[in-house]
Amino acid sequence: MSPETERSLFGEILDWMLAPLLFVWPLSIAFTHYFANNVANFPYDQSLREHVATISRQVQLVEGKPVISLHASTRAMLRADELDSVYFHVLTQDQKLLVGDMDLPAPTFTGMAGIVPGEIYFRDMEYKGQDIRVAYSYLADSQMPVEQWVLVEVAETTEKRTQLANRIVASVILPQFIIIPLAVMLVWFGLSRGLRPLTRLRNTIEDRDPADLSPIATRRVPEELEPLVEAFNEMLERMKRNVEAQQRFVADAAHQMRTPLTGLKTQAQFAARETDPAALRHALRQIATGVDRAGRLVNQLLTLARTEGSEIGQQKHEPTDISQLVREVVEDWVIIALEKNIDLGYESAGKAMITGNPFLLRELAKNLIDNAIRYTPSGGHVTCRIIDVGSTIVLEVEDDGVGISEEQAELVFERFYRVDDATTEGSGLGLAIVQEIANQHGTRASLRPNPRGKGAVARIAFAAWFPPLPPPPPPEDYSELYRQSPPLGP
Ligand SMILES: Nc1ncnc2c1ncn2[C@@H]1O[C@H](COP(=O)(O)OP(=O)(O)O)[C@@H](O)[C@H]1O
Ligand SMILES: [Mg+2]
Repeated sequence: MSPETERSLFGEILDWMLAPLLFVWPLSIAFTHYFANNVANFPYDQSLREHVATISRQVQLVEGKPVISLHASTRAMLRADELDSVYFHVLTQDQKLLVGDMDLPAPTFTGMAGIVPGEIYFRDMEYKGQDIRVAYSYLADSQMPVEQWVLVEVAETTEKRTQLANRIVASVILPQFIIIPLAVMLVWFGLSRGLRPLTRLRNTIEDRDPADLSPIATRRVPEELEPLVEAFNEMLERMKRNVEAQQRFVADAAHQMRTPLTGLKTQAQFAARETDPAALRHALRQIATGVDRAGRLVNQLLTLARTEGSEIGQQKHEPTDISQLVREVVEDWVIIALEKNIDLGYESAGKAMITGNPFLLRELAKNLIDNAIRYTPSGGHVTCRIIDVGSTIVLEVEDDGVGISEEQAELVFERFYRVDDATTEGSGLGLAIVQEIANQHGTRASLRPNPRGKGAVARIAFAAWFPPLPPPPPPEDYSELYRQSPPLGP
């Protein structure tokens, strides 16, 4: 068994449910991280904003010139706490420091587009090797040109923010370490519950008696499994019919064998009592004939069992010239026909290819010719014919014998069925064999009253065999030709 077929449905579903989770999880962590940072920024940005506003309130513009006097309380407010450093400065545009840290970088002048004096802006940057968050604002009155605006900046390292963001992430992620295994366990549990009908079905089938071919009840089977169970039931039904047919066949065969064997026994007892040598010889000859007949019956039974047992495609089929094949069978029967004073003829327009098994096809032709000769009285005619109509090749065996009625025409193909049990001898298996072989060649045999008058016509149409198309001829190579031809004379 290949590894694919051993995959369990349970494992497959579990994989398909849980594997996506492995992709979704990192994604969810990334999102959480992003939003946690946003949330953590918010309160600290607010306090930075207030710092900028407080400083701004303490800067006066006197005739366009900034005058600053920072209260002690403001300076205290701007002191670093135990986690973060705070930097601030007030600058004129020409980089003149009014108060605070000189080297805290100012925003570039090119970034001034869209800046409104009095508004507070934020930016992230690096300062002394640390990440800082900067809140800044410009101060100006309505007459001041941009070059004279006064910049107020307050910056803070981001340690508190990072810690808060990390705590938010942790508080979201940590519970997932409990929730996800729990979810996996619940899915596991749910799946094993959900697949229980499958297990139940398996047990039902496993617990069956091997001889029990009755259909499985679809009552408690889930909707998805119903088609499977129905298909299985159909298979069981076919098997049941097959087994019944086989049992009938064996019973029929035993019954059929009993008759000639009983006859043989009677003849043997009769011969044992015989004292006259001539009569004894006669009795022994009759026994020999009886043995022949029983032997033929056994052969036919074997042929039928063999052809029936083999499914289509199991027997080797090959392109066969049925015209040649039938001709050979006819030749084998010429002597027998002559003995019965029957004109056995053969008509064919030449080769006729079909796909088939030569052994079975010979058996088929033999049975049809045997019947035609057997059910045609002395002086009659039997003609075998191969008619090639392109895509179909028809085999006909026509006779002008006792003929067949329309009602009997179907029945005669059944096993052991004989039209008139008493008058002629035979097993009733010949046409059953013919039909079985026709079946294996994807067609059906028919026996009809002869439309040309007296007698019957057996007919089977086969699909013609065509050789595969030859590959296109290779492009001709003229160079060789040119090299070999003598130079053109004058
Ligand atoms: N060519 C035929 N003409 C008339 N009757 C036929 C012909 N072939 C078959 N039958 C009828 O079909 C019956 C079944 O034929 P078959 O299966 O070959 O068994 P068997 O020949 O052993 O009786 C025969 O008993 C016969 O009555
Ligand atoms: Mg027969």
